[in-house]
Amino acid sequence: MTEKAVETLTEAEARAELARLAEALAAANTAYHTLDAPEISDAEYDALKRRNLAIEARFPGLKRADSPSDLVGATVAEGFGKVPHRVRMLSLENAFAAEEVAEFDDRIRRFLGLTGEVSYTAEPKIDGLSLSLRYQDGMLVQAATRGDGEVGEDVTQNARTIADIPQRVTGDAPQVLEVRGEVYMSHADFAALNDRQAAAGDKTFANPRNAAAGSLRQLDARITASRPLRFFAYAWGELSAPLATTQSAAIARLAALGFQTNPLTTLCDGPEALLDQYRRIEALRATLEYDIDGVVYKVNDLGLQARLGFRSSTPRWAIAHKFPAELAWTELLGIDIQVGRTGALSPVARLKPVTVGGVVVSNATLHNEDYIAGRDSRGEAIRGGKDIRVGDWVQVYRAGDVIPKVADVDLSRRKDGSQPYVFPEICPECGSPAHREEGDSVRRCTGGLICPAQAVERLKHFVSRGAFDIEGLGAKQVEMFFKDPILPVKTPADIFTLAERDANNPLQKLKNREGFGEVSAAKLFAAIEVRRTIPLDRLIFAFGIRHVGEVAAGLLARHYTNWEAFETAITRATPGTPDWAELTSINGVGEVMAQSLVDAFQNPAERAAIDALAAQLTIQPVQARGVVDSPVAGKTVVFTGSLEKMTRAEAKARAEALGAKVAGSVSAKTDLVVAGPGAGSKAKDAERLGIEIIDEDAWLRLIGG
Ligand code: IVH
Repeated sequence: MTEKAVETLTEAEARAELARLAEALAAANTAYHTLDAPEISDAEYDALKRRNLAIEARFPGLKRADSPSDLVGATVAEGFGKVPHRVRMLSLENAFAAEEVAEFDDRIRRFLGLTGEVSYTAEPKIDGLSLSLRYQDGMLVQAATRGDGEVGEDVTQNARTIADIPQRVTGDAPQVLEVRGEVYMSHADFAALNDRQAAAGDKTFANPRNAAAGSLRQLDARITASRPLRFFAYAWGELSAPLATTQSAAIARLAALGFQTNPLTTLCDGPEALLDQYRRIEALRATLEYDIDGVVYKVNDLGLQARLGFRSSTPRWAIAHKFPAELAWTELLGIDIQVGRTGALSPVARLKPVTVGGVVVSNATLHNEDYIAGRDSRGEAIRGGKDIRVGDWVQVYRAGDVIPKVADVDLSRRKDGSQPYVFPEICPECGSPAHREEGDSVRRCTGGLICPAQAVERLKHFVSRGAFDIEGLGAKQVEMFFKDPILPVKTPADIFTLAERDANNPLQKLKNREGFGEVSAAKLFAAIEVRRTIPLDRLIFAFGIRHVGEVAAGLLARHYTNWEAFETAITRATPGTPDWAELTSINGVGEVMAQSLVDAFQNPAERAAIDALAAQLTIQPVQARGVVDSPVAGKTVVFTGSLEKMTRAEAKARAEALGAKVAGSVSAKTDLVVAGPGAGSKAKDAERLGIEIIDEDAWLRLIGG
């Protein structure tokens, strides 16, 4: 259908068009919701919606009383709005074995310096997706997905359609109340939804979790409304007043406010009681009407939770004890080698498709060459030393959402004449030698950026969500441009010269290509232009340097705050230099990560790519964290001697939470030394350097108790 561009419509045409669109969208809705027989695709539906909005934007006076755009708010045109989480949404550390649960309890008691038993809550780990609900004066005002933990997606309209989520809480609530929990779908609702989808010729979902996620993240809230989602509350974010003094009382309070809380939540004293409850919940698992994938343990005393605090992305006071993975046997048809962003050669098992825990699996990871050969990284036998060969019957397992793995091999079914698998020592993509470093289980292609597989994977990472996140430039487009003879993109900097190169090309313009048009080419260039200004943390993450993930990139950016300082420091940092000492003193930055960063910045080819990119960009500085409201923010503190009111680990964690840097030794950069009884040479060094020395009580007064 050729439509007249919105900009060229006359008022009369616009009025007629709005009437047509209102009718078409109403018909589409009836077909979808009432008749369960969609007549147009989601994309066509969205296109109609967008056109309707665009016309209304141009002729606000013509907006109809029954305008389709009112039903879903303003999110239709731009996708979901972004919601920064005022309190980060974290994930949980996992435990699989009973010993790990004992270690968890040990670690907590050591950290807090407790000898007695700690009380915990134990509750099912719901296999859904987490959601944060913000209430102001008791009214639901915003719902957001977890996103990357810092910024989520605004799904308020969608959340309003979920019956378990109160629009208004019952009874007295803190003025600001952020309730967190899990959105999920019951088994029966999941089966019924898939039946409906199949009958309508729509895609079916692999499991209830995917169905819940797909249903919540709908641009049209009416689709969410037609999908029966549920919600369990189990945590909270920002609060203007505490809910209670214990986890269990806080959960009871949420229940009283009108939220569904899980009835299997119990209080357990010590690790043995936790394991008992784990076994009880595991035995009930098959009878529950929803999927769970483990049991979550949380320290019950909220005062202790606060003292324990957080690591970079998980709380110290909670752990998820996962159920064993689901298993199946199938035939290994072949082994492919994939070359990743950092050059790692990863063996991938091509399997005869098999259902594992409700999901059809045809690929699984084989980890590395030792794993295939039946050895661990120290050369000790695994699987009783059995190797894995093409043609073998292998056991495949999945734990939660992670990539399926090959666990075991059935030698009794091994075919005659089968040969051990020979792992390549040459990169299958570029022919460069693939080396293994001493102590590393991974063989890596040494081609660096000359290896097309590494280069293209780096580019995919570069445009990915936590990095540059360029609209219209995803993995598929990156692969296309990488191979493009006219507008090639081989390095990140090439992305930012794309528009100019296209403009200067007299012949084949992007807009004339198949798959592109005037509008989509212009849109792509505009989306790239938007990202020419980029915050420092995203840029550091986007480099895709080994060991430097999103969390580390954030730590580095907040430490150095701007590009010049970061770039100068990393260029100069070699072991032994003050810049190296500073880099490795950042909490969360170890020597391995530091070396990897320094290697990247000091390798000529890598450096050329980084410099070429930086020259194209405006790099925004990042605010240092914890600069507000703390007398020790930005100060470098050294603890020495024994502390009496808290353990060294707790003291360090608290100081860091208040924005201080905690160093292991005294230097001219030290601002403050906290010395307990038995303080030795460090206190002397401090005296010599004229650095302030205080005792533990004075420190506690300084940081407010
Ligand atoms: S507590 C600060 N409790 O598991 C930690 N999480 O693997 C807050 N989940 O992102 C989470 N059931 O989406 C908690 N009973 C439960 C849970 C639960 C499921 C999810 C949640 C979290 C993920 C971490």
